[in-house]
Amino acid sequence: DETKEGVKGLVDAKITEVPRIFHVPQGSLTDKKPSVSDLEIPIIDFASVHVDTASREAVVEKVKHAAEKWGFFQVINHGIPLNVLKEIEDGVRRFHEEDPEVKKRYFSRDFNKKKFVYNSNFDLYSASPSVNWRDAFSCYMAPDPPPPEDLPVACRDAMMEYTKHVMSLGDLLFELLSEALGLKSETMKNMDCLKSLLMICNYYPPCPQPDLTMGISQHSDNSFLTILLQDNIGGLQILHQDSWVDVSPIPGALVINMGDFLQLITNDKFVSANHRVPANREGPRVSIASFFSSSALPSSTVYGPMKELVSEENPPKYRDITIKEYTEGYFVKGLGGTSYLSNIR
Ligand code: SIN
Ligand code: FE2
Repeated sequence: DETKEGVKGLVDAKITEVPRIFHVPQGSLTDKKPSVSDLEIPIIDFASVHVDTASREAVVEKVKHAAEKWGFFQVINHGIPLNVLKEIEDGVRRFHEEDPEVKKRYFSRDFNKKKFVYNSNFDLYSASPSVNWRDAFSCYMAPDPPPPEDLPVACRDAMMEYTKHVMSLGDLLFELLSEALGLKSETMKNMDCLKSLLMICNYYPPCPQPDLTMGISQHSDNSFLTILLQDNIGGLQILHQDSWVDVSPIPGALVINMGDFLQLITNDKFVSANHRVPANREGPRVSIASFFSSSALPSSTVYGPMKELVSEENPPKYRDITIKEYTEGYFVKGLGGTSYLSNIR
């Protein structure tokens, strides 16, 4: 029953030593890759995207560069009002700081039974070498969100409101990304990239021995695209040219990253970059990851490099794969830093 109080429960009980199950294997934190703090992922301003064709093309050019070279960018003037961002951040914090009895009502490890699930991700990241210093709740918000009364009062209204905005920003992002490939704006949407939305709301309590564990271990996302809202603490790092680069929090900005499915369908034009969050003495840190995923699509649906992007000179780098095969592979092999995509090359 204790595990149902999550990592936060341990911190509230004033533990001073990180329990063994959280320990990362020796050396994997201080691996050979250096951390660099003078590099920044691109920051793209969407303010002019609807102004005229030339301004939109300029934005598309920046999106293309970021998607190809980094797999990540931050977006400002994205159209989601600041108060909506604040409400969801506050709501997520409020839920995680609820009385444990309230949180326990939502506790589950079975992601198929319920749409809203709270836990410490002991099993989800089953291929990860250790348990992460993180509590999270997740919810499928599109295409079939749960009835509002199934969501906790602490964050119900905020989740519903934020979802509406995330869906319209997602719509714009898939248009710009399609245009960046020289394709019709609707191409990715027609491939159901915008159909399913899974929201994962993270809470990283302060850690007494941050050198021993990870907030979230190195991974690439199993989504098409992810929209991440992080609070002002920071900690997200992405692997870029064999160095860890900090993604500095910018108030009001959102972090956008390509997931494995975009790398697959674009035949490696766009990259699904590895990223992680080391544990931190500072905290709690809150982040909200909105995954445009394949979760609501039939598991027999097949994805592979888009026909428009392959030719004799540029043959497909991957074979076609069903969502079922990819998803099963991701949770068995794809965590802990090796993308499952390498298995279908
Ligand atoms: C994630 O990669 O899913 C979470 C990243 C973060 O909390 O910044
Ligand atoms: Fe991620």
